[in-house]
Amino acid sequence: MKFGYFDDERKEYVITTPQTPWPWINYLGSEAFFGLISNTGGGYCFYRDARLRRITRYRYNNIPIDNGGRYFYVYDNGDFWTPGWMPVKRDLAFYECRHGLGYTQITGERGGVRVTALAFVPLGTNAEVHQVKVKNTSGGPKSIRLFSFIEFCLWNAYDDMTNFQRNLSTGEVEVKGSVIYHKTEYRERRNHYAFYSVNAEIAGFDTDRESFLGLYNGLDHPKAVAAGQATNSIASGWMPIASHQLNIDLQPGEEKTFIFVLGYIENPEEEKWEAPGVINKTRAESMIARFADDARVEAALKDLAAYWDGLLSKYSVQTGEEKLNRMVNIWNPYQCMVTFNMSRSASYFESGIGRGMGFRDSNQDLLGFVHQIPERARERIIDIASTQFEDGSAYHQYQPLTKKGNHEIGSGFNDDPLWLILGTVAYIKETGDFGILDEQVPFDNNPDNTATLFEHLKRSFYHVVHNLGPHGLPLIGRADWNDCLNLNCFSKEPDESFQTTQNIEGRVAESVFIAGLFCYVGPDFAELCRRRGLHEEAAEAEAHIEKMRQAVLEHGYDGDWFLRAYDHFGQKIGSKENEEGQIFIEPQGMCVMAGIGVKEGLALKALDSVKERLETAHGIVLQNPAYSKYYLNLGEISSYPPGYKENAGIFCHNNPWVMIAETVIGRGDRAFALYRKIAPAYREDISHIHRMEPYVYSQMIAGKDAVRHGEAKNSWLTGTAAWNYVAITQAILGVKPDFDGLKIDPCIPSDWEAYTVTRQFRGDTYRIRVKNPNRVCKGVASITVDGKPVEGQVIPVAGDGGVHDVEVVLG
Ligand code: GLC
Ligand code: GLC
Repeated sequence: MKFGYFDDERKEYVITTPQTPWPWINYLGSEAFFGLISNTGGGYCFYRDARLRRITRYRYNNIPIDNGGRYFYVYDNGDFWTPGWMPVKRDLAFYECRHGLGYTQITGERGGVRVTALAFVPLGTNAEVHQVKVKNTSGGPKSIRLFSFIEFCLWNAYDDMTNFQRNLSTGEVEVKGSVIYHKTEYRERRNHYAFYSVNAEIAGFDTDRESFLGLYNGLDHPKAVAAGQATNSIASGWMPIASHQLNIDLQPGEEKTFIFVLGYIENPEEEKWEAPGVINKTRAESMIARFADDARVEAALKDLAAYWDGLLSKYSVQTGEEKLNRMVNIWNPYQCMVTFNMSRSASYFESGIGRGMGFRDSNQDLLGFVHQIPERARERIIDIASTQFEDGSAYHQYQPLTKKGNHEIGSGFNDDPLWLILGTVAYIKETGDFGILDEQVPFDNNPDNTATLFEHLKRSFYHVVHNLGPHGLPLIGRADWNDCLNLNCFSKEPDESFQTTQNIEGRVAESVFIAGLFCYVGPDFAELCRRRGLHEEAAEAEAHIEKMRQAVLEHGYDGDWFLRAYDHFGQKIGSKENEEGQIFIEPQGMCVMAGIGVKEGLALKALDSVKERLETAHGIVLQNPAYSKYYLNLGEISSYPPGYKENAGIFCHNNPWVMIAETVIGRGDRAFALYRKIAPAYREDISHIHRMEPYVYSQMIAGKDAVRHGEAKNSWLTGTAAWNYVAITQAILGVKPDFDGLKIDPCIPSDWEAYTVTRQFRGDTYRIRVKNPNRVCKGVASITVDGKPVEGQVIPVAGDGGVHDVEVVLG
C-alpha cells in the first residue's frame, strides 16, 4: 500500500494522507540553521547544534506521537481545525504534503477554506520562513481567524527536558508590533535570541503556553483558539510560546498570503541592548525585511532550487528504470547531504542530545557527499583527523560545536583509523587535491602537537599493523564496524553501556572484518606513498597487505564463507562450529571488496553462502541464525531480540558491501537485484509493511527472525545512504573517480541495453553513454572520448571546463 507518490518533475514526494504509518519527515536548512518537519507539521528547529542551541521544543516518545511543531489553527465561525490534520485531527476535505529538497508544503482544506503552509530555510539565513496562503473556496464571503503556534525551547535541549526547578522560572519574552521575541537567559550569558514574526497587523497574540492552551488542554484543544480570541499573554517563567492571531476576511475565490519568519539572532556583546532590559532588535528587523513580501520569498525559493539543481547535476543518470533514476538523481544524494550535515544527531530516532559526530560514521558519510561540495568534505576530514591520537587510534566520537574528542566514549574501536584513509582517498580521487596530505593536523586537538595529514594516515595504517592478534589478524578492541559485537566487554550490569564498559586488554579477540577493510583501503595508502616518492614505504605497506591477505585465507575462512572474528578466548565467531551466528555479512562483503579469495574461488562461494543463508525478500540480514539468548562473550549484539538491529536485522549499511562485492566477481544481475531489495523507491508499494519514508533509506529493516519482518526503523541518519550511493553510482553504473581520472567499469544487469551518466568531474562535464550490445554484465570493450579511443578504462582529466562525450561499449 502507498501513502503518496513521487513527483519527479518537481523533485518531491507527495503524501496524500496525514495518517502515514509513521511520521514521514523532511529536513530544512543547508548550512547552520536546520529544521525537522513531519508531514503533519511536527518537528523542531535548531541552530548548528541540536542539543545546545535548540530553538523550538520537541517531546520525543510523546503521546500521541509527533505532537508539537509549527501549527496554524483556523477558527471558522465556531469550528476550528489545522491544515496538517495534527494536532486537532478534524476531518479534512483535502490534504497533501509535498516534501521537496529543503522545503515542505502542507495543504489542508475544510469548510470552504484552503490553507497552504510552506516551510523552508532560505540559503544564508538563520530562520525558517513559513509562507501561509489562505483561500476562500466557498461560494460566499468568509471571516476566519488564523492562529500560529510554536513553542520555544529554553536553548539547551537536555536541560530543557530535565532541569525544571530552574527553567520553569527563567522564561522571558518581548512583543513589539507583530513580532514575538524569545529572550530567556539573554539577560545573563547568552547573546542570542529567537523571534517569530508575521508580515501583517495582528489582532492579538499569546506568549504564555498556559494562557493559550489551558493548563490541562493538549495542542488539539487550545483554549484561545476554541474561543476564537487570543489573550495577549506575556510569558514570565513557565513555558514561553509564540502565537499570532490574524483576522482574515476573504471574498469567494480570494486568497491572501502571510509570511512568518522564525529566526535566530546573535548580537555582539556591546550591542545587546536597546534600552535597559530591552533587546536590540536591529538584526531581527533586517532579517524580517528580507522576506517582507511574496516576491522576496519566491526569489529565495528559486535560489534554493538552483542550489539543489547545481548539486544534483554533479551526477545524474538516465536508465530505463524510473525508480533507479529517482534514487540516483534526487533522493539518495539528498539523503547523503542530510547525513553529512546531521551525522547521527537529530532525526525521529536520534534525539539531538545524544552522540556527537562519529569518527567512522563521518568518514563514511563523506563517500556519498564529497562530489557535491568537496570543500566542505575537506574541512570535515581535517576536523576528524584532528581528534586522532599519536598512536593512530582515535576518539570514537567528537562534538561538532567544539570539534573535540568525546572523553565519555573514548577510543578503542579498532576499525576507526582505517576509515580516515578511506575518506581522505575519496576526497583526493574526487578533486585531485593531493595538497590536503601536506596540511598540518593536530593530534588530540593539541595545536602544539601536529603532523601532516599524510602522517596521520600512516599512523592509521600502522595502528592495525601494530595491533595484530594470535592469527596475524587485527585485534578488534572494543568493537569494529559492528558496535554491538563486544568481544572484550563481558557486561553483566543492566545499566552499563556496551560501548564504554570495560574492555579487557586480552590481545586475543581478532576481527576478520578489519582485516578485509585493511586490504580494501591499504592499496590506496600504498599508492599515496608512491606518489610522494616514498617507494620503500609503498613496498613495505604492500608487504603488510599481502601478509594480511594470507592471514585471512589461512585463518579467516571457514570452508564456505569468511569467518567473522575470534573471541576473547580464541574461539571462532561466524563459523559452522557455532550454534548461532554462524555466518555474518560484514566479512563476506568487505573481504570480497578487497579482492580476497577471488582467484581461489572462495569469494564466489562466500557470496553464494550469503544468498543461501542471509538473503531475504527484504534484504540481507546481518547474521544467521539470530542469537536467541544473551551471550556474555558477545555483548550487545545478543541483547536485541532476534531479527532486530545488529542481531540479524537487515542492517542496510552493509547490504551495499555485498552489492559491490558482487560487482567484483562480475555478477551484475545479483548486484542490482540486491540494490532493488532495499532501495526505498522500490519498497514504496509495501509502505504499510516498511513503514518508514519511501524516499530515504532506514538504518534497519527487521530480519527474518523478527516478529515484524520487513518493517524498517531509524530512517534518515545512517551510513546506508552513502554506501548505497557508492554501490549504485560507482560499482554498478561504473563511473568511479580515480586518482588520474574517471574510471569506467560498469557491472549491470545483463538485460540492460544502454544508459547515460552525466558526471561533472574536476570542472569538466562528461556525458557517458554506455552501450551493451552483447548483453553482458561486465567488461569494457572500448571507450572513446569525443570520438577518440582511450587506452584502458580511465578517462583522463580534460581540464578545459568543457563538455565531453564519452562512448563506452561493453562486451
Ligand atoms: C550504527 C553506528 C555505526 C555502526 C553501526 C553498526 O549505525 O552509527 O557507527 O557502525 O551502527 O553497529
Ligand atoms: C547501539 C546500536 C548501534 C549503534 C550504537 C551507537 O549499539 O545498536 O547501532 O552503533 O548504539 O553508540
